[in-house]
Order: sequence, then structure tokens, then C-alpha cells
Amino acid sequence: MKALVLAGGIGSRMRPITHTSAKQLIPVANKPVLFYGLEAIRDAGIREVGIIVGSTAPEIERAVGDGSQFGLKVTYLPQDAPRGLGHAVLIARDFLGDDDFVMYLGDNFVLGGINDAVERFRRERPHAQLMLTKVKDPHAFGIATMGPDGRVVDVEEKPRYPKSDLALVGVYVFSPVVHEAIAELKPSWRNELEITDAIQWLIDHDRRIESTIITGFWKDTGSLADMLEMNRFILESLDSEVSGEVSADTEITGRVVIGPGAVITGSRIIGPVVVGAGSIIRNSQLGPFTSIDCDCTVIDSEIEQSIVLRGAFIDGIGRIEWSMIGREARLTPGPRAPKTYRFVLGDHSEVRVGV
Ligand code: G1P
Repeated sequence: MKALVLAGGIGSRMRPITHTSAKQLIPVANKPVLFYGLEAIRDAGIREVGIIVGSTAPEIERAVGDGSQFGLKVTYLPQDAPRGLGHAVLIARDFLGDDDFVMYLGDNFVLGGINDAVERFRRERPHAQLMLTKVKDPHAFGIATMGPDGRVVDVEEKPRYPKSDLALVGVYVFSPVVHEAIAELKPSWRNELEITDAIQWLIDHDRRIESTIITGFWKDTGSLADMLEMNRFILESLDSEVSGEVSADTEITGRVVIGPGAVITGSRIIGPVVVGAGSIIRNSQLGPFTSIDCDCTVIDSEIEQSIVLRGAFIDGIGRIEWSMIGREARLTPGPRAPKTYRFVLGDHSEVRVGV
């Protein structure tokens, strides 16, 4: 079995971070989202991985290399433009050959990995196996409808009138029969070859589709809120490990990972928090649910529920929350301006202003 990982998307909902960084490489708990997927693939016993890359190919290739750091053998498959998940399978045809394969969307995270799905596929040998999960916003996903026997009878991409709330998670296992379906695809309304249409083709041609409903944490990390949620989730399962230097006047509570060479003085760290190697934290408060990447500097500031990327410099900023700060960003106070308010106040108003 092989794996096909999609890492071509441009991440328009994550701008401006994705102007200069591939969205699949945005770190969550200081590890790129994509790496969680590659590790899950490796843990399922798969070695050969094709990665579909687009305009951010050089950056993805630099980060993943030949895959040996994960115990994988990686082949890069360039896609000229985001033409859909079905198109990705089409251009991977030679790489995939006649092998079964897992298709894994590079911005997805599935708690507990994909071992169960892969083992079940190997045991039961359906033509395709889907992972489904209940979602609150079925308009935003591929949606599956189940028949009375618990089999998927219909799948629809981002339906205007969803027939169920079961979304297709971005992990699929296919037998080579899927290539027959891919060959028949026509571009959808968004001008993409949809994998959902290929699955519908398999259903219409009486191929056997199995599905598993997952109830654990799953995230398609398309937006800042998704990233921060995944960050919270991963940080909660950290094992504490302090390798850097922590001064006696620093207070640490909860699960905290401090990387080698990090120096923390006069601060409060309220876990779960991760501080990357070489970062300097001085007279500040971090956490909870905060990831500070390598080589950052945080002075006289408070950061909560946030992700700070490599090399950022934050000094004298006061309180930051629910934020993502890009690589090498500099946040420092501007010149002092008197505080002013503009009011339109009715008669007998009472206003209390914090000072
Ligand atoms: C894609 C699939 C969709 C699936 C989703 C999961 O959507 O087309 O069926 O539910 O991934 O992340 P896209 O990311 O292309 O909007």
C-alpha cells in the first residue's frame, strides 16, 4: 500500500501567514501540521509516499526532504494549479501503479492516526473506505448519506441542502478501481475534479464502499480558529520536559515543554505551553495553550492561546491572546500617545473607564 498526501493547497483563509509559508507547514505545538499526517502514515506501516505539491513546492521539499527523517520514501508530484483532489489522483497515476493507497489531505489531523482504517481495509478489502465524522457545518464539507443498512448511498461535495451531518474526513483508502472512476470525472461547479464525484461513481457502479464513523478529535486546519483549536488539543497531551534554563524566579505550572537552549527568567509559564529551542522569555507570562517556536524573544508581555512562529520578537506589548504571529515578526510598542475616547452619550449616562 502507498500513500498520496496532498500538500498543494495555497491556504487562502490563512493569509497573510500563507503569503510566505505553506499552510501545511504552519507549526502546531511546534511541529508542522503536515508532519502529524506523515507520522500517522508511517505508523500505519506505509513506506512509499507521493506528495502532491503546488506553488509552495520548494518549501515543502526543504522541510520533508526524501522522507527518511520519518522512515518514509517520498516522491514529489507537482500539480500546476489546485484542480481538485480527483485531479491529484489522476496525476499520481504512474506513481500509484496498481497499488492500494491512502489519500491523506496534508492539512488534516486525525486523533489516533489511521491504523484502524488501514487495517480494516486490508482485512475487508472494499473498493474504497471512508472516514466520516459528525460536523456542525455540513455545507463546508463533502457529506455522506447512509442507507438503512449503514452503507453510504450518496456523497455530495459542499451541498447547499445537506442530507446529513456526516462529513468526509480528509483521509480515504482506495483500491486501484478508483482510477476507473477518476477517468470518468468531469469538472465540478468550482472547476475541480472532485474526489467526492469519484466516490459517487463507485457507489453508482455497485462497488463496495465501507466507512468508519470517528468520534475522536479531527480537524481540517483551514483557518486560524482551527489551528488554535488543534494547538490546544495537542498541547493538552504533552509530556512535560524541561531542557532549557529556567531561573529560580520563574514559576511553572501544568504541562510544559522547554526546548534545549531556551532561557526563561522572571516569568510565569502556565501550561500547557511549549517553548522551542533557543527562545528567550523574560519578565513575561505564557499560557495556557500557547506554542512559542524556536529562537523567539518574549519580553514584558503576556501571551495566551496563541501560536508564535520561529524567530518572532515581542517586547513590551502587554497582553496577546487568540493570535498567530509569523516568523521573524517584530512587535514592539509605538511612541506613547495619550489615550482618547470618542463618545456620543445620552443624558444621565454613566460610564466607567478602566485606567
Ligand atoms: C475536501 C474534500 C471534502 C472533505 C474535506 C475534508 O474539501 O473535498 O469532501 O470533507 O476536504 O477536509 P476542501 O478542503 O477541498 O474544501
